[in-house]
Amino acid sequence: MIFRSFSKITVRSPTNIALVKYWGKTNEELNLPMNSSLSLTVDIDQFYTQTSIQLSENNKDRLVLNKQEAEMTGRIYRVVNTLKSYSTPDNIRKGIEIESENNFPTAAGMASSASGLAALTFGLSKAYNLDLSSEELSGVARLGSGSACRSFFGGVVEWTAADSHGKSLAKQLHPSEYWDDLRLLVILTDLEKKKVSSTKAMRLNQRMMLERSNERVPLRMKEIKQGFADKSFEKIARITMEESDDLHYVIENADKPVKYLNARSEEIKNIIKRFNSPGVRAAYTFDAGPNPFILTRKQDMRDLLETLLSQIKLSTENDLKVSEDFDKKLIKNFQAKAEVPVYGIIESKISKTGPILIH
Ligand code: PMV
Repeated sequence: MIFRSFSKITVRSPTNIALVKYWGKTNEELNLPMNSSLSLTVDIDQFYTQTSIQLSENNKDRLVLNKQEAEMTGRIYRVVNTLKSYSTPDNIRKGIEIESENNFPTAAGMASSASGLAALTFGLSKAYNLDLSSEELSGVARLGSGSACRSFFGGVVEWTAADSHGKSLAKQLHPSEYWDDLRLLVILTDLEKKKVSSTKAMRLNQRMMLERSNERVPLRMKEIKQGFADKSFEKIARITMEESDDLHYVIENADKPVKYLNARSEEIKNIIKRFNSPGVRAAYTFDAGPNPFILTRKQDMRDLLETLLSQIKLSTENDLKVSEDFDKKLIKNFQAKAEVPVYGIIESKISKTGPILIH
């Protein structure tokens, strides 16, 4: 039998890095978070998930993830079924073929679920021709992966904690143009898939998580928003590092402790701490994985790179992907005494945009 297929939609979504982290759920089915969080969207030209969606008369669903056949998991169906419920009876019957690819390591604590679920939500909304706002779509993406809701906007984004599906949405606080010289450096210390998913780890330490979410995080949210309003880099950097340390303290002190950071992550934290004396010019932050995102400003990037390259070791010059301002011929001069081996350093701006339609 030959099934009729429909035109293929291809979209791309950026990922995001939280400066104030989401950790803990009040409702696991709906992914309602214990606390509000704040993130920067990572430049869509640097890190993205590209997803193609094709509807077909064959009512079978299929997922190909990074060129391999993969399972349509419960969280994917939560997104699919929610969007189907907004769609026409004709569309509901159709099968969905999803092909999705990340241009960066999957599930190594680099928010691949964020860009992946945002791309799926956005792509499917296009395939079904739905007229939903970015805020509404952020709520649907949240059902698949909490942090995905924040990928719906460029710039600085807040995801609000609330007690119902319709209210826990993401919104943009500032567009990327508001602070053009913010930069991120991603350091790849490990490319392995993480062993404990964030959802599992979030079940482990409810008491400490609640203390963090109810007492420390709300103050940090207030302060970091003020930091962005005042463009106080020092304030933002201080809160970002405090938050990352707090998150990993809670994770590592559960009854069944989980350790996402490795020895290289710890070395990089120390390098940044030394770089920040006497003035704070960079901040590290780690999600549920060992690869840091380092926040800095364009004016400090050169110094930061020189400091990092004199201590962390790349296997080849090509593992350094930074802006043209940095002369790659200089790498050798700095690497002579570098000891901490890493797989790559990638510079990124803050994304101007959330998900986009490619064709
Ligand atoms: O979106 P999830 O369910 O993979 O949770 C991610 C949680 C952190 O990345 C650790 C923090 C955050 O706010 O993104």
